[in-house]
Amino acid sequence: MHIVTVPLGDRSYPIYIGSGLLRQSGSIFQRHGIGRSIVIVSDTHVAELYLSTVEKSLIAKKFNVHSIILPPGEQQKRLNTADRIYTELLKRNIERSATIVALGGGVIGDLTGFIAATYLRGIGFVQIPTTLLAQVDSSVGGKVGINHMLAKNMIGAFYQPQFVLSDATVLRTLPKREMISGMGEIVKYGMILDQKFFRYIEQHLDRAFARDSAVLSHLIRKSCELKAYIVSNDEKEQHLRAILNFGHTIGHALEHAGHYGVLKHGEAILYGMVAEAHIAFRNGMISSGEKERLERLIQQLPLPLLTPIRLQSAALLNTMMKDKKTNNGIIRMPLPSAIGTVLLPSNVDRQFILDAIDYVKVYGS
Ligand SMILES: NC(=O)c1ccc[n+]([C@@H]2O[C@H](COP(=O)([O-])OP(=O)(O)OC[C@H]3O[C@@H](n4cnc5c(N)ncnc54)[C@H](O)[C@@H]3O)[C@@H](O)[C@H]2O)c1
Repeated sequence: MHIVTVPLGDRSYPIYIGSGLLRQSGSIFQRHGIGRSIVIVSDTHVAELYLSTVEKSLIAKKFNVHSIILPPGEQQKRLNTADRIYTELLKRNIERSATIVALGGGVIGDLTGFIAATYLRGIGFVQIPTTLLAQVDSSVGGKVGINHMLAKNMIGAFYQPQFVLSDATVLRTLPKREMISGMGEIVKYGMILDQKFFRYIEQHLDRAFARDSAVLSHLIRKSCELKAYIVSNDEKEQHLRAILNFGHTIGHALEHAGHYGVLKHGEAILYGMVAEAHIAFRNGMISSGEKERLERLIQQLPLPLLTPIRLQSAALLNTMMKDKKTNNGIIRMPLPSAIGTVLLPSNVDRQFILDAIDYVKVYGS
């Protein structure tokens, strides 16, 4: 088992990474002095596969376990569902000493974290992420929240868990498309911070998709270390954390244009990185060789065609203008200067953005 610490002073917490950790949940919870009452929130896919393993391990250590199971999917990340969960918690007399556990992907993690941050003004929170995306990204860093009818991820909080438990063996049941989505964020970490890690990803892609636990554990560990480093230096996204948004400005706009039904989050980020690296190239920031190296890696990750999306430049720009990262109508984004190095966000000329959208249109057709 590897332990990555997210160093945030008295809110520091460990991320446990390894194989077969679900079966050890009970002893890990016990080691953290977690109170007796535990509420697991999961979705039907994940619950069917893994809930009983976690429950058994907790019950064996004398925890009282409740569970709340939701249908899978992004639609659950909304106030209505949160309200239903609050009602369940109140009906079951869940008190402040209880701990709420997210067992699932990023949807369950974000929603459950939001509940943990707000129920009784905040109760204990543990993440057991089960998608690659959640293990390398959404479970680390404390961003929790729900969507609003008008925009995604607009209501939320920064709320850190007591610990995160990432079991690489659960990825054996994860569909390939979800693996690719998680790989989007992993490629991003290599691209923005660590050339050596980028090379490791290039060399171990096949083994990752063959669900080699050692390779997956390394990818998870390294990604968590890189994200932890950034989050600990800038928890609330005042400066450095903004580099995590590489690929996200255009990626989010594409995701939005497809009404969140064409591209998964990580797939959109893969397209977004191609587009934004193209902007960096046009700006003279990155060499054609480095940009093409990123594209060669991304080409090995099959992505859905962009053809079902109406890629209207004005609408895409409009989405980018509404982005939380936009300031006074100026679109800013972090851009790479080499594999392993990205610069803090800078203003980007709209024409370059439009050209990048044309570029990605051809790339994704
Ligand atoms: N908080 C953050 O910092 C952050 C960062 C990135 C993304 N996100 C959010 O994460 C969400 C996307 O998360 P996601 O990609 O994990 O999607 P998801 O939670 O919808 O999970 C994807 C699918 O995989 C299934 N699944 C999960 N684990 C499985 C397993 N081990 N085996 C088989 N099936 C499994 C789920 O039931 C679901 O159908 C979005 O809402 C996004 O906004 C948050």
